Amino acid sequence: MAYKVLNSVLVKDAANLASLSTDMLVLVINKNTKNDSSFKELNKKSKNYISKTVQSHLDEPGSIVLLPKVDGINAKNILLVKGLDTDTPTHKWLSLFQSIAHKGNQSKCKDISIMPGTITPKDKDELWLIEMVSKTIESNVYIFSETKNKTSKKPSVKKLTILTSGLTGSKLTKAKQAAKVGYAIGEGVNTAKYLGDLPANHCTPRIIEKKVKAMTKDFPKLKVKSFNEQQMEKMGMGSFLSVSRGSEEPARMMVIEYKGGKSSDKPIALVGKGVTFDTGGVSIKPSPAMDEMKWDMCGAATVFGVMSTLARLNADVNVVGVMGCAENMCSSKATKPGDVVTSMSGQTIEILNTDAEGRLILADCLTYVGKYKPSYVIDMATLTGAVVIALGRHASGVMANDQYLADKIIESGEESGDRAWQLPLWDEHQSCTKTKYADLANIGGGREAGTIHAAAFLSKFTNDYKWAHIDIAATASYSTPVKAGTGRPVPLISQLLLSKKLK
Ligand code: BES
Ligand code: ZN
Ligand code: MN
Repeated sequence: MAYKVLNSVLVKDAANLASLSTDMLVLVINKNTKNDSSFKELNKKSKNYISKTVQSHLDEPGSIVLLPKVDGINAKNILLVKGLDTDTPTHKWLSLFQSIAHKGNQSKCKDISIMPGTITPKDKDELWLIEMVSKTIESNVYIFSETKNKTSKKPSVKKLTILTSGLTGSKLTKAKQAAKVGYAIGEGVNTAKYLGDLPANHCTPRIIEKKVKAMTKDFPKLKVKSFNEQQMEKMGMGSFLSVSRGSEEPARMMVIEYKGGKSSDKPIALVGKGVTFDTGGVSIKPSPAMDEMKWDMCGAATVFGVMSTLARLNADVNVVGVMGCAENMCSSKATKPGDVVTSMSGQTIEILNTDAEGRLILADCLTYVGKYKPSYVIDMATLTGAVVIALGRHASGVMANDQYLADKIIESGEESGDRAWQLPLWDEHQSCTKTKYADLANIGGGREAGTIHAAAFLSKFTNDYKWAHIDIAATASYSTPVKAGTGRPVPLISQLLLSKKLK
């Protein structure tokens, strides 16, 4: 089952705009537009109505005017958009495309045709712009409606056409490729949004397993292995299994292999935290906003989304994705504070707080993935509330044992508009994992630097390879203005893998 919303994304030359049959023609107006021959011809057909409206109604960059049908022009609606400047930050460009997607659905349009123009942020080019339009429209026409019945709303927009001016030959081919890449990343984002938005009773580890297996029908290049609790027990994953112990829902570890590169190339490994619901366990969470803990599987959802994007694009990289899925509940069988378990690495762990469960799952997944002798390992997890306090909602937190890897993650965040920021992970931070009763404790450091102390714990399981940890607790979902998954960091990770920066 594919999770894309649009049925097609096309790139076309903007000739004969007046006769273009579309529900919404979006014209991004900037200083180059008045000299554009397709625009001039269109404006003439409207008897200068378009240029007059631009003058009288569009002021601030990013402002929008929706026009109903204009005589002489075939489009059912025209959306005039005042273009942004080269020094407008990337996030504003993306929010503009986002509002265009929303306008399309609100106006019940079946398709959007957009002429994004040739002005781009100053360090980006037209191909970047086309990729971002395609990605952002695909991922923002998405509407979650699966658990609505009488009030369900479906996205109306099913088709996107990107109109370019004067691109021919290899330039046009590249533009088409950029649109295809954006579309596939948008599909990955929607995969992650959808899994995150599903309520926890509709998204247990076994349900995720079914969905992952079903995905191989669309993408036969993805090979899926799934491990049940007995198999994980045999591998010695006592840390992972301590999390699902209190739940009726059994845990699953899914491994998705994608080999698009040379068979001699070592894979890049992605590891995602997939806690389908986090009550905190016996160290139970307070009830306000506990519903938001259905998004505690967004690390695993990102793995799922990125793997589908790679397969959709036939990308020439080797990647292995691990999804560690479990439900963290409290019951008479649940792990208790002070319990000591043995991890797959052989290190024993005193579980002082059952709400610090993500790191317990990741510890064993990170040990497991070492068997692939990966060139780099990146884990993604909604790991700490502390990262929301440290960085706010705009950046994911990166910590790494390899600076090159951290730099490339941050660069890819800038490139994709899905930003990340580094926090230190120093030797001094390691002291917090000491305890009298086991090799490690799962918490430490008190109220100080909770995000870094979680990473310090993980670093005890990642000595054999180059590794980065991305804490996405603040970025994978919003709680205001509406609670929703964002599909982050699918854009960042897809950009990183597709750009081949890690070769
Ligand atoms: N899933 C939570 C982290 C989280 C908090 C994600 C808010 C999204 C929004 C994680 O399992 C957790 O409970 N972490 C604890 C760690 C603490 C017990 C050391 C936290 O952040 O409070
Ligand atoms: Zn959690
Ligand atoms: Mn927790």
